[in-house]
Amino acid sequence: MTVNSTSRSAVALTRRELAGVALGGGAALAAAHLLATPATAQVRDGLAAIARSRGILFGSMTSEKSLDDSAFRQLLRAQCDITGPINAFKWHVMSRASPRQDFSVVDRFVSIARKSGFLVRGHTLLWDKPQMLPKWVMAGSLRDPAEWEQALRARIDQVCGRFAGQIAIWDVVNEALKFNGRPVNGPFAQALGERIFDIAFDAAHSNDPRATLIYNDYVMPEYPRMQDGILALLTGLRERGVPCQGLGIQGHVSRLASDSQYRQWRQFLAAVADLGLRIMITELDVTDTDLPAEASIRDVEGADLLGRFLEETLAERAVSAVMTWGLADRYEGLSYYRPRADGTKRRPTPFDTSLAPKPAYDALRQALADAPSR
Ligand code: XIL
Repeated sequence: MTVNSTSRSAVALTRRELAGVALGGGAALAAAHLLATPATAQVRDGLAAIARSRGILFGSMTSEKSLDDSAFRQLLRAQCDITGPINAFKWHVMSRASPRQDFSVVDRFVSIARKSGFLVRGHTLLWDKPQMLPKWVMAGSLRDPAEWEQALRARIDQVCGRFAGQIAIWDVVNEALKFNGRPVNGPFAQALGERIFDIAFDAAHSNDPRATLIYNDYVMPEYPRMQDGILALLTGLRERGVPCQGLGIQGHVSRLASDSQYRQWRQFLAAVADLGLRIMITELDVTDTDLPAEASIRDVEGADLLGRFLEETLAERAVSAVMTWGLADRYEGLSYYRPRADGTKRRPTPFDTSLAPKPAYDALRQALADAPSR
């Protein structure tokens, strides 16, 4: 694949057409509607343009404060078709002592992003873990299942109602399973069981029928029992008619899996696709905790891990979108997680702190260019 033929085919597919391919169904209409407004629906010679030439939607989630940095914003626009806030939509961030939700940060983020021509992904409506829930929820005021259900519906009604037609993808439920495939069984699941999925997806869908709704989790090739758990969960959602249209694979890459694990991974992806679901990589980055200290060596090893994961995953044509968790190390958001023993800063994203491309950028470029067309 030459650079020339990449950019020629990129020109052939507009962002509007791509969003239709990548998101499908009602979301295609939503995407067309979104993209009709901004004047910036131009082809860019960045990662998004290469991805688009393969029918893949590419973008990056980013921290709220990164949008105030004009050099960074320019990079984001050059590389991405979709973005979204890393933390601002989380329930415990929007609401603390009372059920009232603070929309100031998300209003601003969504408005800037849409004016700049991005599709927007919302992350996340329900992350059922005590530390990811508002203090008032954890304070014990919700007494019976009806009250837990009402609290969840109110949260989602308010958020999805306010942004109806403006969010291309919603992560409706986040991380409900453990690595062993068993349910996390957080506070809402304790009160409502599996109905948390039915309630959350139903509330999101009825408030914003055009958004693509996904279940998002940490599943990776090295966690086969989690793959089984997710398949069982998604099969149940399909059987119950829950309006979930896709699986988000976070993609925090930390090590090489074995060849047999990658073979099983491809079967897992095919099985998810057979359920009629779309698959998206939603939080791609390198967890470089255990990689060598020397930055140049670490970046090359991290890029190799990333490249292999992408190659294996993008081989499945149902994988319709790739989003990184932060675009540049200037604004990476996960260094508190598994910090390095040598105390050096983590380097998880494709661009460095001066916004220069790293080997991970080349790996992404290559993997997107080599991906079979959708
Ligand atoms: C993380 C953010 O990166 C941090 O800034 C924040 O302190 C905690 O959450 N899985 C997810 C993300 O779905 O929401 C998490 O993001 C990373 C793991």
